Amino acid sequence: MRSIAITEIGAAPAQLNLPEPEPGPAEARVRIIAAGLNPLDWKIADGMLKDSVAYSFPLILGVDGAGVVDEAGPDARFGVGEQVFGRFSGIPRGLGTYAEYAIAAEDDAVVPMPDGMLYTQAAALPTAGMTAVQVVDEAGAEDGTSVLVVGATGGVGRPAVSLAASRGATVIATARADAADAIRGLGAAETVDHGRGDLAEQVRAVHRDGVDAVIDLVSDRAATESLVPLLKPGGTYISTVWALNPDALEAQEIRGVNVQSVPTPELLERVVELVQTGDMRIDVEEEISLPDAPAALARSREGGARGKTVIRV
Ligand SMILES: NC(=O)c1ccc[n+]([C@@H]2O[C@H](COP(=O)([O-])OP(=O)(O)OC[C@H]3O[C@@H](n4cnc5c(N)ncnc54)[C@H](OP(=O)(O)O)[C@@H]3O)[C@@H](O)[C@H]2O)c1
Repeated sequence: MRSIAITEIGAAPAQLNLPEPEPGPAEARVRIIAAGLNPLDWKIADGMLKDSVAYSFPLILGVDGAGVVDEAGPDARFGVGEQVFGRFSGIPRGLGTYAEYAIAAEDDAVVPMPDGMLYTQAAALPTAGMTAVQVVDEAGAEDGTSVLVVGATGGVGRPAVSLAASRGATVIATARADAADAIRGLGAAETVDHGRGDLAEQVRAVHRDGVDAVIDLVSDRAATESLVPLLKPGGTYISTVWALNPDALEAQEIRGVNVQSVPTPELLERVVELVQTGDMRIDVEEEISLPDAPAALARSREGGARGKTVIRV
């Protein structure tokens, strides 16, 4: 089957022809129609998980996907012909979603596709949507609160902005000039251009009393330290890139949370509901074909995402 894989940690992702996987007794094999691209994919190729997960090569990249079950073990949750999507956990077996077939394991956050949803739309939802729900929950976003979203213009940022705003929070979001209108369209009350001067200063100029929460999807340790003083005492700082030292923040009366997304079928069902009610928006920036995935991964590394990239397999 056609796939995009690496042959060793650090190798450039390339198109390889690999054997089709066979499902175990409680597994379903899914003919992947669309796969979602996440920064996690090139981080895995760089070896980010090498200390926690056994890598096996060739390793097909990709964790998000949508497609049709074409073979199912006797104890599988899904039957042949069912349309499913979600977050697949095949990476330790080298079986990612950038391929014609992937395996949905028993406990994977893979669920039936909602009626009327396109495969390309579904493939964009899992990692970005579930992470957005988790960070907005952690931030306690609700009526009367203020939330700064740093990294708001990308895959996770857009659903996080729209969900926090729909819960009534006043959302201040980072956006370069080209993306500012779109981010306000998602419900942000204000945008701040992180490419034009000091971010903390720009926010403080408007919010002298500070903000209740920061959802930070991009900053490293040093950058988070410059933003911490924006928080009100008792405020919450959330990082998806593990940039925080929660103990040091506690001494400053700030709750620091390094979020590790925990995908479950229940959380993915919540994402579906929030998207269908319009409370959360997940924007697809571009659809590409499988041979173009290595170039798209290289672009993702460079930054500048304006939503999700979806790969048509
Ligand atoms: N811990 C977890 O479980 C978990 C789950 C999901 C994602 N993540 C991580 O969270 C991060 C964000 O994911 P994503 O899918 O949203 O990435 P993405 O789609 O690549 O989006 C990142 C966005 O941040 C913007 N950006 C870059 N530098 C910035 C800065 N200094 N200030 C403000 N905005 C900036 C980028 O636009 P410009 O380059 O134009 O500024 C881009 O729009 C990734 O590192 C991902 O691996 C972690």
